[in-house]
Amino acid sequence: MIITRIHSGPTAIAEAVDLLNRGELVALPTETVYGLGCDALAPLACAKVFQAKDRPLYDPLIVHLPNRAWADRIAVLSPIAQALADAFWPGPLTLVLPRTAIVPDLVTAGQDTVAIRWSAHPVFQEVAEEFGRPIAAPSANRFGRISPTAPEHVLSELNGRIRLIVDGGPCNHGVESTIVLVQEDGLRILRHGPITDRQLAAFGPLVSGNTEVSAPGTLKSHYAPRTPLVFGPVVPGPRHGLLAWDSAGEGYAHVERLSESVNLEEAATNLYAAMRRLDEAGLDLIVADSVPEEGLGVAIMERLRKAAARE
Ligand code: TXA
Ligand code: MG
Repeated sequence: MIITRIHSGPTAIAEAVDLLNRGELVALPTETVYGLGCDALAPLACAKVFQAKDRPLYDPLIVHLPNRAWADRIAVLSPIAQALADAFWPGPLTLVLPRTAIVPDLVTAGQDTVAIRWSAHPVFQEVAEEFGRPIAAPSANRFGRISPTAPEHVLSELNGRIRLIVDGGPCNHGVESTIVLVQEDGLRILRHGPITDRQLAAFGPLVSGNTEVSAPGTLKSHYAPRTPLVFGPVVPGPRHGLLAWDSAGEGYAHVERLSESVNLEEAATNLYAAMRRLDEAGLDLIVADSVPEEGLGVAIMERLRKAAARE
């Protein structure tokens, strides 16, 4: 039986690097959500990530760079990709680009593209720089579950499955990175996140509609609490909880307010922790307010719709 510890400070960073060097897993904070990291160039280490998360092998991993120079060793960056990297890295933007040969098939799920990002989180950066190689890191939750935005969330997802959670406090953005497929005809947003459509549109046309490429892990029901979630308004029952944006919440057994100041950034930061608390409150149903679909509201609504999808 593996004992899982939450640990912070320089010794935690040294331990994290040691685990990565030995082909083991470590949970690390990023500015979006906590990730479950491993040596991205070691297929056996990557296999352990799929195992610990119960993640199907068709769902590829994001590769996190120790520095900008590593981007060209892993992927082929077009001029638009270079411009996006210059503008938003380090930060919450993941680029899907043609891969190079050194990337293990397990990481890309056999696709000819690889998803890369360079995290801005100081603790993640310290570990990555000291390790000196790219780190593959999906969100540190079991497959299909709510992403962790605090070390205790990781513990409740992966207790007994990993040795170390490096404590970096609560995550800044609270929703996962924006994922963009960079193609010749423009930018396809595969997952909405902290970098908004408007910010991206300055770099090329945003293309939507049919594409063979999608982010496989973002299909269907995802980010899901175990308790059923529906959008309101709904007449509240005695065992109903509310994930509130702007409604009053009278009559609900449990209310989690996304943002006291009705601010979308704050709402994103609180979203997953609030969903987790509602899920642990022993309710029959979670009713969610819709939030305005502008800026970060697009990313929040994308998560809520997936949480509501049951198939
Ligand atoms: O903010 C984030 O992106 C966090 C932190 C830890 O970096 N990571 C994260 O990873 O959310 P994950 O694995 O939970 O979600 C990554 C998504 C998955 O839906 C996966 O299918 C998609 O990225 N993805 C990975 N490689 C891809 C590729 N080559 N083409 C299309 N989608 C890809
Ligand atoms: Mg995930």
